[in-house]
Amino acid sequence: GKLYVGLDVGGTAIKAGVCSEDGKLLHTFEGPTENEKGSDRVMANMAQYARTVVEQMSASWDDVEGVGLGVPGFLDIQNGVLLTSPNLVLRNAPLKSYLSEQLGKPVLINNDANVAALGEAWGGAGRGVSDCVMYTLGTGVGGGIIIGGRIVVGFNAMAGELGHIAIVPDLEAIQCGCGKKGCLETVSSATGIIRMAKDAVARGDLAPLAGLDTITAKDVFDAAKAGNETAARIVQRAAHYLGKSMALVSVVVNPQRFIIGGGVAKAGEYLFEQIREAYFKHALEAASKGVEIVPAELGNNAGVVGAAGLILRS
Ligand code: BGC
Ligand code: NA
Ligand code: ZN
Repeated sequence: GKLYVGLDVGGTAIKAGVCSEDGKLLHTFEGPTENEKGSDRVMANMAQYARTVVEQMSASWDDVEGVGLGVPGFLDIQNGVLLTSPNLVLRNAPLKSYLSEQLGKPVLINNDANVAALGEAWGGAGRGVSDCVMYTLGTGVGGGIIIGGRIVVGFNAMAGELGHIAIVPDLEAIQCGCGKKGCLETVSSATGIIRMAKDAVARGDLAPLAGLDTITAKDVFDAAKAGNETAARIVQRAAHYLGKSMALVSVVVNPQRFIIGGGVAKAGEYLFEQIREAYFKHALEAASKGVEIVPAELGNNAGVVGAAGLILRS
Protein backbone atom coordinates (compact mmCIF):
# COMPACT_ATOMS: atom_id res chain seq x y z
CA GLY A 1 0.00 0.00 0.00
CA LYS A 2 0.88 3.66 -0.02
CA LEU A 3 3.28 5.01 2.58
CA TYR A 4 3.52 8.46 4.13
CA VAL A 5 6.77 9.54 5.73
CA GLY A 6 6.85 12.08 8.57
CA LEU A 7 9.95 13.76 9.99
CA ASP A 8 9.98 15.46 13.37
CA VAL A 9 13.06 17.65 13.53
CA GLY A 10 14.36 18.50 16.99
CA GLY A 11 17.43 20.25 18.34
CA THR A 12 19.12 16.97 19.30
CA ALA A 13 17.28 14.24 17.38
CA ILE A 14 15.35 13.83 14.16
CA LYS A 15 12.59 11.28 14.33
CA ALA A 16 11.28 9.64 11.18
CA GLY A 17 8.05 7.67 10.95
CA VAL A 18 6.06 5.86 8.31
CA CYS A 19 2.26 5.88 8.30
CA SER A 20 -0.16 3.82 6.27
CA GLU A 21 -3.06 5.29 4.32
CA ASP A 22 -5.32 5.06 7.37
CA GLY A 23 -2.88 7.09 9.46
CA LYS A 24 -1.49 4.14 11.40
CA LEU A 25 2.14 4.50 12.49
CA LEU A 26 3.99 1.48 11.09
CA HIS A 27 7.62 2.13 11.94
CA THR A 28 9.91 4.80 13.40
CA PHE A 29 13.62 5.58 13.34
CA GLU A 30 15.57 8.20 15.24
CA GLY A 31 18.99 9.66 14.51
CA PRO A 32 21.02 12.61 15.77
CA THR A 33 20.31 16.09 14.34
CA GLU A 34 24.01 17.05 14.49
CA ASN A 35 23.08 20.69 14.78
CA GLU A 36 26.68 21.42 15.83
CA LYS A 37 27.91 20.18 12.44
CA GLY A 38 26.05 22.88 10.57
CA SER A 39 23.13 23.41 8.28
CA ASP A 40 24.20 21.18 5.36
CA ARG A 41 24.71 18.22 7.65
CA VAL A 42 21.35 18.66 9.36
CA MET A 43 19.57 18.78 5.99
CA ALA A 44 21.44 15.75 4.69
CA ASN A 45 20.43 13.88 7.86
CA MET A 46 16.77 14.65 7.22
CA ALA A 47 17.00 13.09 3.77
CA GLN A 48 19.00 10.15 5.08
CA TYR A 49 16.63 9.30 7.94
CA ALA A 50 13.59 9.49 5.64
CA ARG A 51 15.16 6.82 3.47
CA THR A 52 16.43 4.79 6.42
CA VAL A 53 13.04 4.46 8.09
CA VAL A 54 11.53 3.10 4.86
CA GLU A 55 14.49 0.77 4.21
CA GLN A 56 14.22 -0.63 7.72
CA MET A 57 10.67 -1.77 6.94
CA SER A 58 11.95 -3.49 3.81
CA ALA A 59 9.44 -1.37 1.92
CA SER A 60 10.09 0.16 -1.47
CA TRP A 61 10.75 3.88 -1.76
CA ASP A 62 8.40 3.79 -4.76
CA ASP A 63 5.47 3.25 -2.38
CA VAL A 64 6.16 6.56 -0.62
CA GLU A 65 3.57 9.20 -1.54
CA GLY A 66 5.38 12.09 0.06
CA VAL A 67 7.32 13.39 3.02
CA GLY A 68 5.93 15.76 5.66
CA LEU A 69 8.15 17.71 8.02
CA GLY A 70 7.64 19.33 11.41
CA VAL A 71 10.38 21.89 12.00
CA PRO A 72 11.04 24.04 15.07
CA GLY A 73 11.24 27.67 14.07
CA PHE A 74 9.89 30.36 11.84
CA LEU A 75 8.87 29.23 8.36
CA ASP A 76 7.87 30.40 4.94
CA ILE A 77 5.44 27.51 4.56
CA GLN A 78 4.47 28.13 0.92
CA ASN A 79 8.06 28.06 -0.26
CA GLY A 80 9.09 25.49 2.30
CA VAL A 81 11.88 27.58 3.76
CA LEU A 82 13.00 27.56 7.40
CA LEU A 83 13.79 31.24 7.93
CA THR A 84 15.27 31.11 11.40
CA SER A 85 15.03 28.98 14.51
CA PRO A 86 15.69 29.76 18.17
CA ASN A 87 17.02 26.22 18.68
CA LEU A 88 18.49 25.11 15.33
CA VAL A 89 21.49 26.37 13.37
CA LEU A 90 19.61 26.58 10.04
CA ARG A 91 18.96 30.02 8.48
CA ASN A 92 16.96 30.56 5.26
CA ALA A 93 17.17 26.83 4.63
CA PRO A 94 15.23 25.73 1.51
CA LEU A 95 14.01 22.48 3.06
CA LYS A 96 11.19 21.78 0.64
CA SER A 97 13.18 22.18 -2.57
CA TYR A 98 16.24 20.41 -1.16
CA LEU A 99 14.32 17.41 0.16
CA SER A 100 11.99 17.03 -2.81
CA GLU A 101 15.05 17.00 -5.04
CA GLN A 102 16.97 14.54 -2.84
CA LEU A 103 14.01 12.25 -2.28
CA GLY A 104 12.07 12.64 -5.52
CA LYS A 105 8.77 13.04 -3.64
CA PRO A 106 6.39 15.84 -2.73
CA VAL A 107 7.45 17.54 0.50
CA LEU A 108 5.34 19.67 2.84
CA ILE A 109 6.66 21.48 5.88
CA ASN A 110 5.04 23.04 8.91
CA ASN A 111 6.05 24.04 12.40
CA ASP A 112 6.95 21.15 14.74
CA ALA A 113 4.37 22.04 17.39
CA ASN A 114 1.66 22.72 14.79
CA VAL A 115 2.28 19.28 13.39
CA ALA A 116 2.29 17.66 16.84
CA ALA A 117 -1.02 19.39 17.55
CA LEU A 118 -2.42 17.94 14.35
CA GLY A 119 -1.20 14.47 15.31
CA GLU A 120 -2.86 14.75 18.74
CA ALA A 121 -6.03 16.16 17.18
CA TRP A 122 -6.35 13.23 14.78
CA GLY A 123 -5.26 10.33 16.91
CA GLY A 124 -4.48 11.48 20.44
CA ALA A 125 -5.67 13.75 23.21
CA GLY A 126 -7.55 16.00 20.80
CA ARG A 127 -9.79 13.32 19.35
CA GLY A 128 -13.42 14.36 19.10
CA VAL A 129 -12.69 18.04 19.75
CA SER A 130 -12.64 20.51 16.88
CA ASP A 131 -10.92 23.39 18.72
CA CYS A 132 -7.82 22.62 20.74
CA VAL A 133 -4.46 24.18 21.50
CA MET A 134 -1.30 22.23 22.14
CA TYR A 135 1.80 23.33 24.00
CA THR A 136 5.04 21.37 23.71
CA LEU A 137 7.40 21.92 26.63
CA GLY A 138 10.89 20.83 25.67
CA THR A 139 14.06 22.62 24.65
CA GLY A 140 11.71 25.41 23.59
CA VAL A 141 8.04 26.03 24.15
CA GLY A 142 6.03 25.25 21.04
CA GLY A 143 2.39 25.91 20.34
CA GLY A 144 -0.14 24.59 17.85
CA ILE A 145 -3.64 25.95 17.36
CA ILE A 146 -6.28 23.72 15.81
CA ILE A 147 -9.59 25.38 15.02
CA GLY A 148 -12.28 23.54 13.11
CA GLY A 149 -9.86 20.63 12.83
CA ARG A 150 -7.26 22.67 10.93
CA ILE A 151 -3.95 24.25 11.89
CA VAL A 152 -4.20 28.02 12.25
CA VAL A 153 -1.15 29.37 10.45
CA GLY A 154 -1.74 33.11 10.09
CA PHE A 155 -0.32 35.87 7.89
CA ASN A 156 3.37 35.17 8.53
CA ALA A 157 2.90 31.55 9.61
CA MET A 158 3.59 32.67 13.16
CA ALA A 159 0.18 31.81 14.61
CA GLY A 160 0.82 29.39 17.45
CA GLU A 161 4.30 30.64 18.35
CA LEU A 162 3.09 30.55 21.94
CA GLY A 163 6.58 30.19 23.40
CA HIS A 164 7.31 33.74 22.37
CA ILE A 165 4.39 35.38 24.08
CA ALA A 166 6.07 38.12 26.12
CA ILE A 167 4.60 37.27 29.49
CA VAL A 168 7.33 37.74 32.11
CA PRO A 169 7.30 41.30 33.52
CA ASP A 170 10.18 43.47 32.25
CA LEU A 171 11.92 43.63 35.63
CA GLU A 172 12.32 39.85 35.74
CA ALA A 173 12.64 39.25 32.01
CA ILE A 174 15.64 37.55 30.51
CA GLN A 175 16.76 37.14 26.92
CA CYS A 176 15.14 34.43 24.77
CA GLY A 177 16.67 32.53 21.86
CA CYS A 178 14.42 34.56 19.55
CA GLY A 179 16.17 37.78 20.54
CA LYS A 180 13.35 39.23 22.62
CA LYS A 181 13.01 39.33 26.39
CA GLY A 182 10.43 37.83 28.70
CA CYS A 183 9.13 35.07 26.46
CA LEU A 184 7.16 32.18 27.98
CA GLU A 185 9.92 29.90 26.67
CA THR A 186 12.44 31.48 29.07
CA VAL A 187 10.50 30.14 32.09
CA SER A 188 8.37 27.18 30.99
CA SER A 189 10.72 25.18 28.75
CA ALA A 190 13.07 22.51 30.08
CA THR A 191 15.88 24.91 29.24
CA GLY A 192 14.23 27.67 31.27
CA ILE A 193 13.64 25.40 34.27
CA ILE A 194 17.27 24.27 34.18
CA ARG A 195 18.48 27.86 33.93
CA MET A 196 16.39 28.91 36.93
CA ALA A 197 17.78 25.98 38.91
CA LYS A 198 21.37 26.86 38.00
CA ASP A 199 20.75 30.48 38.98
CA ALA A 200 19.37 29.32 42.33
CA VAL A 201 22.43 27.14 42.91
CA ALA A 202 24.69 30.08 42.01
CA ARG A 203 22.81 32.31 44.49
CA GLY A 204 23.22 29.64 47.16
CA ASP A 205 19.43 29.07 47.37
CA LEU A 206 19.56 25.53 46.08
CA ALA A 207 21.97 22.73 46.88
CA PRO A 208 23.41 21.34 43.64
CA LEU A 209 20.88 18.74 42.44
CA ALA A 210 23.39 17.07 40.18
CA GLY A 211 26.61 17.99 38.47
CA LEU A 212 25.84 21.58 37.45
CA ASP A 213 26.30 20.80 33.77
CA THR A 214 24.17 17.70 33.81
CA ILE A 215 21.15 18.96 35.75
CA THR A 216 17.87 18.16 34.01
CA ALA A 217 14.33 19.48 34.33
CA LYS A 218 13.42 16.10 35.81
CA ASP A 219 15.96 16.65 38.62
CA VAL A 220 14.17 19.90 39.44
CA PHE A 221 10.74 18.23 39.44
CA ASP A 222 11.99 15.34 41.56
CA ALA A 223 13.47 17.75 44.12
CA ALA A 224 10.25 19.79 44.14
CA LYS A 225 8.10 16.69 44.64
CA ALA A 226 10.40 15.61 47.47
CA GLY A 227 9.69 18.89 49.24
CA ASN A 228 12.56 21.16 48.20
CA GLU A 229 11.03 24.64 48.42
CA THR A 230 13.33 26.38 45.97
CA ALA A 231 12.77 23.70 43.35
CA ALA A 232 9.02 23.90 44.03
CA ARG A 233 9.09 27.67 43.43
CA ILE A 234 10.81 27.15 40.09
CA VAL A 235 8.13 24.67 38.99
CA GLN A 236 5.45 26.99 40.24
CA ARG A 237 6.88 29.86 38.22
CA ALA A 238 6.94 27.71 35.07
CA ALA A 239 3.31 26.64 35.66
CA HIS A 240 2.21 30.15 36.58
CA TYR A 241 3.31 31.79 33.34
CA LEU A 242 2.14 28.87 31.27
CA GLY A 243 -1.33 29.04 32.84
CA LYS A 244 -1.41 32.79 32.41
CA SER A 245 -0.55 32.48 28.71
CA MET A 246 -3.32 29.90 28.32
CA ALA A 247 -5.80 32.35 29.86
CA LEU A 248 -4.74 34.78 27.18
CA VAL A 249 -5.10 32.18 24.43
CA SER A 250 -8.60 31.44 25.73
CA VAL A 251 -9.88 34.89 24.80
CA VAL A 252 -8.13 34.78 21.44
CA VAL A 253 -9.23 31.43 19.99
CA ASN A 254 -11.27 29.93 22.86
CA PRO A 255 -10.21 26.26 22.59
CA GLN A 256 -12.20 23.53 24.27
CA ARG A 257 -9.10 21.63 25.27
CA PHE A 258 -5.44 22.38 26.01
CA ILE A 259 -3.03 19.53 25.35
CA ILE A 260 0.36 19.69 27.04
CA GLY A 261 3.20 17.56 25.70
CA GLY A 262 6.97 17.48 25.49
CA GLY A 263 9.45 16.10 28.00
CA VAL A 264 8.46 18.54 30.76
CA ALA A 265 4.85 17.28 30.70
CA LYS A 266 6.14 13.93 31.99
CA ALA A 267 6.25 15.58 35.41
CA GLY A 268 2.59 14.53 35.49
CA GLU A 269 -0.24 15.55 37.81
CA TYR A 270 2.13 17.49 40.09
CA LEU A 271 2.66 19.94 37.23
CA PHE A 272 -0.83 19.74 35.71
CA GLU A 273 -2.51 20.71 39.00
CA GLN A 274 -0.43 23.86 39.13
CA ILE A 275 -1.08 24.70 35.48
CA ARG A 276 -4.84 24.30 36.00
CA GLU A 277 -4.74 26.45 39.11
CA ALA A 278 -2.88 29.25 37.30
CA TYR A 279 -5.12 28.99 34.23
CA PHE A 280 -8.46 29.06 36.01
CA LYS A 281 -7.25 31.86 38.28
CA HIS A 282 -6.41 34.10 35.33
CA ALA A 283 -8.88 33.07 32.63
CA LEU A 284 -12.13 34.82 31.95
CA GLU A 285 -14.75 32.54 33.43
CA ALA A 286 -17.04 32.61 30.41
CA ALA A 287 -14.11 31.51 28.21
CA SER A 288 -12.67 28.83 30.51
CA LYS A 289 -15.93 27.20 31.58
CA GLY A 290 -15.71 23.46 30.73
CA VAL A 291 -12.18 23.78 29.31
CA GLU A 292 -9.94 20.76 29.87
CA ILE A 293 -6.18 20.72 30.34
CA VAL A 294 -4.83 17.27 29.51
CA PRO A 295 -1.51 15.56 28.80
CA ALA A 296 -0.58 14.60 25.25
CA GLU A 297 -1.28 10.96 24.41
CA LEU A 298 0.99 10.21 21.48
CA GLY A 299 4.10 11.16 23.44
CA ASN A 300 7.10 11.28 21.20
CA ASN A 301 5.12 10.12 18.18
CA ALA A 302 2.74 13.06 17.76
CA GLY A 303 5.25 14.90 15.57
CA VAL A 304 5.88 12.12 13.05
CA VAL A 305 2.21 11.17 12.83
CA GLY A 306 1.17 14.79 12.28
CA ALA A 307 3.99 15.32 9.78
CA ALA A 308 3.01 12.26 7.75
CA GLY A 309 -0.54 13.57 8.03
CA LEU A 310 0.44 16.77 6.24
CA ILE A 311 0.83 14.65 3.12
CA LEU A 312 -1.91 12.18 3.91
CA ARG A 313 -4.53 14.91 4.30
CA SER A 314 -3.33 17.17 1.51
C1 BGC B 1 10.25 27.82 18.30
C2 BGC B 1 9.02 27.14 17.80
C3 BGC B 1 9.03 25.67 18.16
C4 BGC B 1 9.32 25.48 19.63
C5 BGC B 1 9.43 24.03 20.01
C6 BGC B 1 10.41 27.54 19.77
O1 BGC B 1 11.58 28.15 20.23
O2 BGC B 1 10.12 29.21 18.10
O3 BGC B 1 8.90 27.31 16.41
O4 BGC B 1 7.79 25.14 17.83
O5 BGC B 1 10.50 26.15 20.00
O6 BGC B 1 10.40 23.38 19.29
NA1 NA C 1 3.60 26.57 16.36
ZN1 ZN D 1 11.26 34.28 22.40
